[in-house]
Amino acid sequence: MDPKGKATLSYAGKTAEFPVYGGTIGPDVIDIRKLYGGTGAFTYDPGFLSTASCSSKITYIDGDEGVLLYRGYPIEQLATNCDFLEVCYLLLNGELPNKDQKDKFDYTVTRHTMVHEQLARLFQGFRRDSHPMAVMVGVVGALSAFYHDSLDITNPEHREISAYRLIAKLPTIVAMAYKYNMGQPFIYPKNALGYTPNFMRMMFGVPAEDYKQNDVLNRALDRILILHADHEQNASTSTVRLAGSSGANPFACIASGIACLWGPAHGGANEAALQMLIDIEKEGGLAKVGEFIKKAKDKNSGVKLMGFGHRVYKNYDPRAKLMQETTREVLAEVGAENDPLLKLAMALEKIALEDDYFVSRKLYPNVDFYSGIVQRALGIPTSMFTCIFSMARTVGWIAQWNEMISDPEQKIGRPRQLYTGAAKRDVTPMAKRK
Ligand code: ACO
Repeated sequence: MDPKGKATLSYAGKTAEFPVYGGTIGPDVIDIRKLYGGTGAFTYDPGFLSTASCSSKITYIDGDEGVLLYRGYPIEQLATNCDFLEVCYLLLNGELPNKDQKDKFDYTVTRHTMVHEQLARLFQGFRRDSHPMAVMVGVVGALSAFYHDSLDITNPEHREISAYRLIAKLPTIVAMAYKYNMGQPFIYPKNALGYTPNFMRMMFGVPAEDYKQNDVLNRALDRILILHADHEQNASTSTVRLAGSSGANPFACIASGIACLWGPAHGGANEAALQMLIDIEKEGGLAKVGEFIKKAKDKNSGVKLMGFGHRVYKNYDPRAKLMQETTREVLAEVGAENDPLLKLAMALEKIALEDDYFVSRKLYPNVDFYSGIVQRALGIPTSMFTCIFSMARTVGWIAQWNEMISDPEQKIGRPRQLYTGAAKRDVTPMAKRK
């Protein structure tokens, strides 16, 4: 990449110049890799507010305009024209598949859906009431122990087969985590079914009767998966990249991503948004909306309008619009058009979008504002929401991991620090310590 300009920094009597690079779209970056060598100083950027940790060709977000592109394609077009596996192919390979490529991809993913019986036994080691995300972290990490044949990360074929295995086995493992929690038998994958119908059957089927597929519900889940498939260098993706930068195997890296996603500030927000709606409903529903908004605006109340605001989007999250559409379709299908939680969500959204507090801070609904309502209507319990998110995000993680491993500029991730602890001092023998 050729620099498009340079930036000059004067510090401690020294002046240093740094190349500036431009991306296809989005902000330029100042390449400060030689900053320490040139000035003896580090940059300080906790939370990476102004730091690009890598260059990437996968996903682009314009938070001010509310734009999300996977490989250049707007999320709205992908969500309305493609299925999840098509989007997986796109994220992994950079282009949408033609019919033959798609058929081959679907076939290959489908042939990797089963897990080793020994892995199924691993579940017995967990308490029945374990949080399913705790089970996910353990079981996905344990996949590393089953595929010694393909753990050479420098071999592109090994990386490819690991990608297939992860995308194919995540739904099986998520459904097993649910069934184990419920005390029901595991339902084995059925290869005649597509990705989403197969998952719904493994989740909600029982051996005693045939599972009845519902196209509207399957499409809704497929859309949830598409909308959550990647989101550039968010916390869990950066975790996967950092873990992978040491050469760790892909299963271990994805397990680290799942661990990060579990946090309430990341994957857990849809659960919090749904809980907020349930709580307002219990306290009086629509009549209490004004009072709740007042509390959300009061810094001392400790209350936030969950599902509103985003670190990157300072406009309507494009995924939230699509999710709102899906919410209506699913609620109509299950005969819950008048769901009080949807009415509450719409009332909160309307007031917030007109209220100066939210408008001036550019706080808009994010994807989590509606996704909890949809998942609840699909029959997915709240404790499983983040597992569904991890199943969707696995393709993004693996695409980003693969991109990093193939990048000639890749180095082990090793941030520096501003040290504020004690200066060098001597150990006092125990007898003399006060
Ligand atoms: N309700 C009320 N006020 C809010 C909210 C909210 N949801 N979000 C932000 N604010 C206020 C802050 O108090 C702050 O006000 P101030 O400028 O007067 O101090 C201002 O808006 C800016 O907020 P920050 O927290 O600085 O914004 P940041 O970008 O750091 O945080 C975040 C974004 C964490 C998502 C925040 O908006 C939030 O907590 N939202 C609710 C939780 C949520 O929905 N998270 C989902 C994120 S999407 C995802 O992970 C898939």
